[in-house]
Amino acid sequence: MSCLNDADCREPAKRRTALAVLALMLAIFLILSIWSFLPAHKQAIPSAVSYGDADAVLGKRVFQAYNCMGCHTIVGNGAYFGPDLTDIYEHAGPAWLAAFLPSAGGWPTSAAVQIQLQNAAVQKEVGSTDMQAYLDRYPGAAERIDQRGGQHTLMPNLPLKAGEITALIAFFKYTAAMNTEGWPPAPKEGRRLPALAGSPAVAASAAPAADSQPAAAGDADPVALGKKLVNDLGCVACHATDQKRLVGPGWGGLYGSTVQLADGGSVKADDDYLVESIRQPDAKIVAGYPPHVMPSYDPLVNESDMQAIVAYLRSL
Ligand code: HEC
Ligand code: HEC
Repeated sequence: MSCLNDADCREPAKRRTALAVLALMLAIFLILSIWSFLPAHKQAIPSAVSYGDADAVLGKRVFQAYNCMGCHTIVGNGAYFGPDLTDIYEHAGPAWLAAFLPSAGGWPTSAAVQIQLQNAAVQKEVGSTDMQAYLDRYPGAAERIDQRGGQHTLMPNLPLKAGEITALIAFFKYTAAMNTEGWPPAPKEGRRLPALAGSPAVAASAAPAADSQPAAAGDADPVALGKKLVNDLGCVACHATDQKRLVGPGWGGLYGSTVQLADGGSVKADDDYLVESIRQPDAKIVAGYPPHVMPSYDPLVNESDMQAIVAYLRSL
């Protein structure tokens, strides 16, 4: 074939250029497509993230079953009544979450978080029972304890069982591990919560048992000391001082009464029973209440503090 004029000769050349450009575009498109999937290999997979005996898949089901998303945003989805929960595990850590979730109506105190450091699942993640080390690693926990510890929250107390709490923590561990490309953005002012007027100042002490000791020696009124201790230890997040049911049974009128137990038996609520209920909460479970929800306060409460707490419970 030969060119009869200039125009006919330029035609195939133009077509070649067009095809070459198209091929280049196609190559760029394919390379970028593959490129965009590459980071996904490093992405966390829910079934591979576990906490305690639960994996994140189970946790997501619990999260959905309780409609947490009706109030909270997570990974960009949900509502804005409660705070974004995507990175809560990374900020506050497992011990804070384990202290908060069973009694979400109250912000955990330092002692309430410290007691969760004994929890086997927390131990496995954190590797130490040292409270200061925990607060250094999870500054969000220190911040929450300082600013709100012991005060009421706007979140309802949900009837979460121990296994569901473990599963939720697994789910939060997963969302915190996800590569969300920097979502959610950090608030400009940091997460500073205004102090509530007239709220009790709860010291973010790392060793409440140790510093309540001098008080125990010096304080003449065990009932007043007991009242202070149950506030500091965060008991009142789960127990009402009247007969109201919160997460646990109300303490009003408990002393001397006959308590129906989950195993069908019953027990008289004397001093020994109260001490056992605080040191080994799972030894006897009150009928109608979940086991494994109340942590054992054995490591945090010495003998004189225990007497003060029992004296206070007796007074109700
Ligand atoms: C009715 C609304 C509502 C529901 C349902 C709800 N929350 Fe909340 N939640 C809140 C509010 C409001 C806060 C903040 C409380 C405050 O600031 O006093 C909160 C706080 C929290 C926090 C602490 C966040 C932080 O940054 O300190 C966690 C964790 C949490 N919720 C988990 C859950 C989980 C898990 C569920 C489901 C099992 C759930 N929430 C269901 C309203 C809700
Ligand atoms: C996370 C929630 C939670 C916290 C915090 C908590 N408890 Fe409990 N408590 C429960 C639940 C749930 C029960 C009922 C199940 C059982 O018997 O263990 C219970 C049971 C009890 C009982 C037996 C009550 C009865 O009616 O027979 C006593 C006494 C008690 N708790 C005292 C305390 C004291 C004191 C503290 C703080 C040092 C405390 N609890 C902290 C949840 C909690």
